[in-house]
Amino acid sequence: MSSLRKVLVIGSGGREHALSLRLLESESVGEVLLSPGNAGTHTAPPDLAHKILRNATGSPLEVAAREQPDLVIVGPEAPLCDGLVDQLSAAGFLAFGPSAAAARLEGSKAFMKDFALRHGIATARHVTVDSAASLERALAEFDAAPVVKADGLCAGKGVVVADSHDVAREAALGMLSGASFGAAGARVVLEERLRGAEASIHAISDGERIFVLPAAQDHKRIGDGDRGPNTGGMGTYAPAPLITPELAERVTRQILLPAIHGMAADGTPFRGALFAGLMVSDAGEPGLLEFNVRFGDPETQVLMNLIDGDFAEALIQAARGKLDPALLTLSKNSAVCVVLAAAGYPATPRAGDPIEGLDVAARMPNVRVFHAGTRLDAGRVLTAGGRVLGVTARGSSLAEAHQRAYQATEAIRFAGMQFRRDIAARALA
Ligand code: AMP
Ligand code: GLY
Repeated sequence: MSSLRKVLVIGSGGREHALSLRLLESESVGEVLLSPGNAGTHTAPPDLAHKILRNATGSPLEVAAREQPDLVIVGPEAPLCDGLVDQLSAAGFLAFGPSAAAARLEGSKAFMKDFALRHGIATARHVTVDSAASLERALAEFDAAPVVKADGLCAGKGVVVADSHDVAREAALGMLSGASFGAAGARVVLEERLRGAEASIHAISDGERIFVLPAAQDHKRIGDGDRGPNTGGMGTYAPAPLITPELAERVTRQILLPAIHGMAADGTPFRGALFAGLMVSDAGEPGLLEFNVRFGDPETQVLMNLIDGDFAEALIQAARGKLDPALLTLSKNSAVCVVLAAAGYPATPRAGDPIEGLDVAARMPNVRVFHAGTRLDAGRVLTAGGRVLGVTARGSSLAEAHQRAYQATEAIRFAGMQFRRDIAARALA
């Protein structure tokens, strides 16, 4: 085992659990550590029991110093924007993820919009506002109510899709005053509202080359039929038929590659996972809504089912700036992830409910149950967050993956469990 690699994953969500198991499946990997991890990441699943999966406590730099991993992967956006990859690199560790300078693509909406304009990447028309005094003039530049975005990171809550100028004004004033998001709202981007259907495309990059993953669709609202409040994402499927091969090629040529080449030209090469959030108009035109500088959650839960090849080796090459994109290939499978959320989510998720049926679901073929908000208490798994589990299945068709994911969902129970019954329904219709 000693020549096999040890990989450290920073984070505690379903995304990190999915990344960890996909890394553990890589031929070159013998051990994956998660820090801090969750109740699902203490041990490897039965089919990977010949390898080691475990949690590690301490700050990321402490854990890295103690464990001496061959590769560190930083999952969430906040530590990326705070420069964790720069710090790990300075301490001599190989880390996959963008530098703080490159993470501004997600960390500042105003930066992202200026970057896109500078490098000819089409996005919605926008105006950046940094004071209440200049808000009225900016609002007047939009005939229809603009979308209002806090400049900085707001854990996915910083966007208001306003139905009127009054709603947009109120949202922008709340942000600019600091009342809504503190310093993250000190600048506000107003932008033209795009219409259509949303999808995302991820690319793994070494700063120059990219490996493009299949398009995925998330379901952001809590309720069936896209009703109710927004969440971190209630389920995903991939590949999304909305993104035809021609459209994916256009997104690669007109959005992903110009972004990677633009970041390199600006002296801040982007090494990591670049996630382009897209709006596809009824006429089939793709518009860029946002860049994220990391794998999506719960997009990763499905995407990890669709890549063949030594994933760990590819991330190592990307982190070193020397990715051979031919190392990875796309499988012909489809995957569906159904998120099981806690009672009260998204407003006030309840914690401490015991979860049953995990053992049954774990024995189902082609199913993985990724943990997010869970914790172990005297051998029992309890809910410990809003999004609790991501029940994920693969199949040779979307219909097969869908059927398996919902079958596994039926095996799991906890008090107040919420999930959507229409994940992937639109694509199957
Ligand atoms: P973002 O964090 O920029 O992706 O925004 C979060 C969500 O707000 C997106 O997934 C869209 O649903 C919505 N959104 C953002 N920008 C726009 C826009 N220009 N037009 C319509 N909806 C938008
Ligand atoms: N699922 C959306 C995100 O990760 O930002």
